Amino acid sequence: MNEFTEREQITTNIYEDADRACGFVADAIERLLRERQSQGKSAVLGLATGSTPVRLYRELIRRHREEGLSFANVVTFNLDEYYGLEGTHPESYRRFMQDQLFDHVDLDPEKTHVPDGTVEREDVFASCRRYEEKIEEVGGIDIQILGIGRTGHIGFNEPGSGPESRTRLVTLDTLTRRDAARDFLGEENVPRHAITMGVGTILDARVVYLLAWGDSKAGVISESVEGQPSASIPASFLQLHKDCVFCVDGGAASQLTRVRYPWLVGPVEWSPSLVRKAVTWLAQKVQKPVLKLVDEDYSENGMADLLTERGSSYELNIDLFNQTQHTITGWPGGKPGADDTNRPESASPYPKRVLVLSPEPLDDVSCMGGTLHRLANQGHEVTVAYMTSGNLAVPDTEVRRTIELIIELGEGHEDQAEVSFARCVQRQLEEKGQFGLDTAEIRRLKGLIRRGEVRSSALMLGLTVDHLTFLDLPFYEEGRYRRFNVGEEDVNRMHALLEEVQPHQIFVTGENHDPLSIPALCFGVLRDAMEKSSDSEWRASCNVWLYRGPGGEWEAHEIDMAVPLSPSEFENKIQGIYQHQSQRSQSPSLAKNGAGNTWNVASELNHSTAQVYDQLGLPEYEAIEGFKKWSLNR
Ligand code: GLP
Repeated sequence: MNEFTEREQITTNIYEDADRACGFVADAIERLLRERQSQGKSAVLGLATGSTPVRLYRELIRRHREEGLSFANVVTFNLDEYYGLEGTHPESYRRFMQDQLFDHVDLDPEKTHVPDGTVEREDVFASCRRYEEKIEEVGGIDIQILGIGRTGHIGFNEPGSGPESRTRLVTLDTLTRRDAARDFLGEENVPRHAITMGVGTILDARVVYLLAWGDSKAGVISESVEGQPSASIPASFLQLHKDCVFCVDGGAASQLTRVRYPWLVGPVEWSPSLVRKAVTWLAQKVQKPVLKLVDEDYSENGMADLLTERGSSYELNIDLFNQTQHTITGWPGGKPGADDTNRPESASPYPKRVLVLSPEPLDDVSCMGGTLHRLANQGHEVTVAYMTSGNLAVPDTEVRRTIELIIELGEGHEDQAEVSFARCVQRQLEEKGQFGLDTAEIRRLKGLIRRGEVRSSALMLGLTVDHLTFLDLPFYEEGRYRRFNVGEEDVNRMHALLEEVQPHQIFVTGENHDPLSIPALCFGVLRDAMEKSSDSEWRASCNVWLYRGPGGEWEAHEIDMAVPLSPSEFENKIQGIYQHQSQRSQSPSLAKNGAGNTWNVASELNHSTAQVYDQLGLPEYEAIEGFKKWSLNR
């Protein structure tokens, strides 16, 4: 412990990326397994589901295949299971574990345990007791792996769960159900109940590793680690465990005091980006425009050393004011003929070839609809590439409406290909029922529905429909949420597009997201494709601008280019968003903290960035879209 980690009540290791964190946990598991093997004893693992541990499981499978790590002496207990789902259901946690780990290593199927989601209601209590007894019979859990939900839950111990709780039937929180809506193709399909080990059951494990990736988990991580243990964040009870380690990446660590406000906890190296972050924070904290900050504001808020280093608040204030002011531009593609010394983007070449990458349809317009409009209006050659079809997020009701229309149109022309396709999809929909997997035909139609929405949205933004590209990356077409696998073909398609467009500017998202999320996977595809293009001429002068991604916006100190929107431009963007009709009740990732919906989250974010700029003493705008510059050589 040191002054930076003093506030942290749980040992927290911050890793450069999720793979490194998983390597650390895999090492601990491997040590345990080998030690027990040498003693002729078994090892007991407590396992979790969700996208978070998938990379750990992939690493364990790799060690099994390539390094002979055996699981023959392992007994496993999973944290939880949806109540009412058969183990064969594609979204059941039993099935998830079979697919993601059990079927790929030499585990004895008899030794794997997942709570039974199918027991009759009156037998649930006894079944849960029996689960606990089985854990005791094998000597307790040696290593428990955990993820964390956005409500701060572990397993399915939702807020309200106490440290004494044991394995039991629970009701799922609204936010948790919304987070699972994509997996189940609609919130209405998500089970309302689950069986979960209790917080007490988890605390009994000898060693606990909690994993978390991406900044959507940052809030609950800091509350669990630095807050008081409380039932409102069940993961905070892990503070009561003497051998628990949180293994997180930079995104998930970003709200810890030592990362967010390091100057408040100890001496820091004042790099330019840290000064910007600290002074922006100070102005917001004392609620003064930057130019009105005085020496006392600095010294009373843990920044006396900065003041001494720089001489006076006057210098610091003016520096930040200028820096922030220089981020603002109404010319996101650069202003032709203007002096660009202090502009975020270069004046030439003009017009630019601009490539906007949208992981799924709608991400582009909801995050940068105003900027897209400007780029198109200012004469740039804008190509928007939709990296995935987004077909997994289309509810069946939309498909039914479309096929009914086709069938009605085709009355009397039953032999037409479109009509027989529609009839085929109609049959498949009936056969698959509420929980079945979509067939290739259903997914194709769902993808086409989204393409239609994309086109009408693009027209609102003044884009040329010919310049819309649908990459339909195979990792998505062949995969399911939380278990996508990117391959060579994904990168090849992206690479071909880059070489075709040869962009001067790229807009993309996905940095710092959960590594198995669609934006993060797409970002990885771009990075690898750019790597392949490293010798191409266009690369040397291409600027990459990051938009924050669905449901989020950069904080003011992170923004390198701020594009202000007038009320009418903003309204136009909202109309663009509205064209994505199939998404009105979807995209849970866009809905923050259980409140709001797809439509108004984007507007809240853009308004609040404008308010922060206003509060800092910069011009007052209706809305702002923010971008961060990405260095290719990172
Ligand atoms: C579900 C699971 C939890 C998991 C959480 C987060 O609620 N019951 O065990 O930690 O989801 O999932 P993800 O890792 O996909 O973010």
